[in-house]
Amino acid sequence: MPDFADAMAFRHACKRFSEQKIPEATFEQVLEFGRMSPSSFGMEPWRFLVVADTALREALRPLCWNQPQITESSHLLIITADNECIKPGTAYVRAMFARRGLPEEAFERYLGVYADHMGPQFHSREAIEAWTHKQCYLAAANMMTGAASLQIDSCPIEGFEKAKVEALLALEPARSVALIVAFGYRLNPQPEHYRLDLDAVVERR
Ligand SMILES: Cc1cc2nc3c(=O)[nH]c(=O)nc-3n(C[C@H](O)[C@H](O)[C@H](O)COP(=O)(O)O)c2cc1C
Repeated sequence: MPDFADAMAFRHACKRFSEQKIPEATFEQVLEFGRMSPSSFGMEPWRFLVVADTALREALRPLCWNQPQITESSHLLIITADNECIKPGTAYVRAMFARRGLPEEAFERYLGVYADHMGPQFHSREAIEAWTHKQCYLAAANMMTGAASLQIDSCPIEGFEKAKVEALLALEPARSVALIVAFGYRLNPQPEHYRLDLDAVVERR
C-alpha cells in the first residue's frame, strides 16, 4: 500500500493515456474520495458528471483546446458546481446544517452565521462560482491524489471554453463547470516534477 508521499510522487498531469480501462469499482473509489472532501460550511456544492458517452467526449474535445486526454482517458470527469442551492435561506442549506443534529438554538445560529458571512459575498453569479469552484478544486485534488494512491493517473484540465462546454452539456442554469479531470493509465514514462524550492514558497513569521 503506497503512502501519501508515494502518491504525491506518482501523480503528474498525464497528457497521454493508454487504452487500459479503470475498473468501475476502482473509479467508484476515486469518486468517493471526492465525495468525502472537505467544503466550506460543509456545503458540498460539487456535482460530479462522469462522461462515458464516446460521441459526447468527441464533441467536447474541440472545446477543450483539442486536448487528447478528453477522448483518450479511461474516465472523464466534469466537476460541476451547483450555484443556487448554496444561497442562504434555501431548503438545501437548512438540510446541510440540520443533518448535524444540533440543538435548535445552535442550528439557527449556524444559519445566521452562514447568511451573514456568505450573503454579502454572493453578490453576483461570478462571485458565487468563485466560491463553489474553490470547493470543487479541493475535491479534484483529493480525487487526483487518491487516484494516484491506487496507481491511477490523472490530468486536471482548465483549458476549455467554459460557456461552450456548459452549453454542450446542457447544464441546468444553476450549474457551472468548475474543472475537468481525466483519469486513466499513463502511456509514457512520468516526466520530471518541476517545483520551486520550499524556501521560495514558505514564509515564516
Ligand atoms: C487547475 C489546473 C488546471 C490545469 N489545466 C491543464 C490543462 O488544461 N491541460 C494540461 O495538460 N494540464 C493542465 N494542468 C496541469 C499543470 O500544467 C500541471 O499540474 C503543472 O504543470 C505541474 O505539473 P505536474 O502536475 O505534472 O506535476 C492543470 C493543472 C491545474 C492544477
